[in-house]
Amino acid sequence: MSENHLRLGVNIDHVATVRNARGGAYPDPLRAAKLAEEAGADGITAHLREDRRHISDTDIDGLMEVLSVPLNFEMAATDEMQKIALRHKPHAVCIVPEKREERTTEGGLEVAREENKLAHFIAPLRDVGCRVSIFIAADQRQIEAAHRIGAEVIELHTGAYCDAHAEGRMDDAAQELESLRQMSAFAHSLGLEVHAGHGLTYDTVKPVAAFPEVKELNIGHFLIGESIFLGLTPAIQEMRRLMDEARA
Ligand code: PXP
Repeated sequence: MSENHLRLGVNIDHVATVRNARGGAYPDPLRAAKLAEEAGADGITAHLREDRRHISDTDIDGLMEVLSVPLNFEMAATDEMQKIALRHKPHAVCIVPEKREERTTEGGLEVAREENKLAHFIAPLRDVGCRVSIFIAADQRQIEAAHRIGAEVIELHTGAYCDAHAEGRMDDAAQELESLRQMSAFAHSLGLEVHAGHGLTYDTVKPVAAFPEVKELNIGHFLIGESIFLGLTPAIQEMRRLMDEARA
């Protein structure tokens, strides 16, 4: 794979959301993960939330068993999640902020204020070989703190850019994009690997995919929604096509 290849991590959380609406066994997130793999996903992302509102512990057990591509395990910085991650040793662990009352991961992690605690939290994960990523806003203070605590990867939160775009606030969207561009370059200059995600759609993906420092995008909700109309495979293939076009 070329140096310029932009990885696509497909987040399958919301296959589980639909399953859990009825409490049964379908649609099966593992089946979606295998299909995503065949459609060209470079990795599968799943967020085991404290309240288990979508992905379950059993889903994580299954993903660890069936996947041929790396699992990016998203989790809050809690003792319970650390134990689960240390047991499974997924390829990557992405530390995200989590509030019970939020509908989705609303902001980036406050790393600068919790530097010591987070440094101790991620050390054992790194020791067992997980690539630790920190989900943060495009904010120089947070990037510097993520670097100091020993993270190898940061994932930049693209939600503010995508929200502004969806609401037609194009000046704000352009400003958010400019921050993402500058902070991708800044993080890269510190030696951090840069990922990005949250809220990305066919309409918003290309400018982010074009940043040469960004190595991976993690995309879920839009793709799972679009798969109702197109099917999961074509929905992923179209995202892949747009990413490749932006990167060319
Ligand atoms: N990256 C991270 C760290 C996330 O928490 C999420 C949402 O779970 C995503 C990417 C994917 O966001 P979306 O589902 O809006 O594409």
